[in-house]
Amino acid sequence: MAASSSTVRFAVVGDIHVTKDHAGTLRAFFAQASEAADALLLCGDLTDYGTAEEAQVLADELSVVKKPIVAVLGNHDYESGTPEVVMEALKHAGVRVLDGEACEVEGVGIAGAKGFAGGFGRGSLGAWGESVIKLFVKEAQQEAMKLEAALAKLRTPRRIALLHYAPIAGTLAGEPLEIFPFLGSSRLEEPLLRYPVDAIFHGHAHRGTLEGKTIGGVPVYNVAKPLLQRSRPDQPPFRLFELPREREDESARAAPAATTA
Ligand SMILES: [Fe+2]
Ligand SMILES: [Fe+2]
Repeated sequence: MAASSSTVRFAVVGDIHVTKDHAGTLRAFFAQASEAADALLLCGDLTDYGTAEEAQVLADELSVVKKPIVAVLGNHDYESGTPEVVMEALKHAGVRVLDGEACEVEGVGIAGAKGFAGGFGRGSLGAWGESVIKLFVKEAQQEAMKLEAALAKLRTPRRIALLHYAPIAGTLAGEPLEIFPFLGSSRLEEPLLRYPVDAIFHGHAHRGTLEGKTIGGVPVYNVAKPLLQRSRPDQPPFRLFELPREREDESARAAPAATTA
């Protein structure tokens, strides 16, 4: 698919879970995603155990991508206790890794953070009782604050939020109800209500649902690769998201509707 001058296209996917055995096997996939879009967005769990070896395999596989790449990490990228190793390998490969930061690609602002767990709505875990519970809730609050700080930096009319954990329960349907609190937190939705974006992408819920909406009506897309593969076996396992390309003379106008494939 050729790049369009009237739209900006993003190929978005998460939960690739790269292992050392993937060496040489993901290049065709990344090349296809890169060919279809103006930029590649990655929603965490990029490696399986967060090892240096896996991170290097991922970086090597991504070398075929000649477009901008923006990523957030996932919980699997933290498993070995050295997320900075994964981050460094990605940065060395030219990937912009967002951990509470923002960047701009083709005139579209992107805010990213990993996010965290904790549950949804009235079922959210509160910071009460044992100190370990307070620590858990504090982590969710800090990730929400990171996301908010990133969103507050965006100055572009078109905006995207990248997460690993889910900000709403709607895109988790299909997962066992018992594990919903470990798949995301509505604390992540709060900043997205204060700082609206055109679309929100997350992964982590491999058996969830492809699409949902925030309370504010913003579309939320679960782009976990296993979910995309299972739900749309006839399509490549990335989501193509398209936004109208901003012209300088219309930057102050209201945003027209976005489309996805
Ligand atoms: Fe995952
Ligand atoms: Fe995950």
